[in-house]
Amino acid sequence: MIAVGCDHAGFELKQVIMKHLEERSIEFKDCGTYSADSCDYAVYAEKTARAVADGECELGLLFCGTGVGISIAANKVRGIRACCCSDLFSAEMTRMHNNANMLCLGGRVLTPEKAIEIVDIFLDTPFSGEERHQRRIDQITDLENRF
Ligand code: RB5
Repeated sequence: MIAVGCDHAGFELKQVIMKHLEERSIEFKDCGTYSADSCDYAVYAEKTARAVADGECELGLLFCGTGVGISIAANKVRGIRACCCSDLFSAEMTRMHNNANMLCLGGRVLTPEKAIEIVDIFLDTPFSGEERHQRRIDQITDLENRF
């Protein structure tokens, strides 16, 4: 199960990606927002990130205007490693090296076609499991636990 969430600026792109997930027969939970009316990205970042952090969903996809605000907010939720990115290489590497569990995209940055490509590579790439990458992720978790 994939969690999806957005603010108003990411709403259209979230619609595109949900249709794409349906076409790929990938189940998802839509955590809102549910219209293009103005709203606050931190609210939907938290709702969506909690679905991932609580284990209800394996991965999450977030959308705002740039992908930046919603990623900053999602990364405040314990256990979340959210990556804001606009290119395929980073989307692949953040799964392989960072074991990122959320991807954040900008509805005002990306074309729908590019966003679909980025989502696909993110969802289809596993964590490498290599010791050095796990060690670095553990350091991030330690850092989180010290605050
Ligand atoms: C909303 O106008 C916009 O600020 C928001 O979607 C996002 O881009 C913030 O980082």
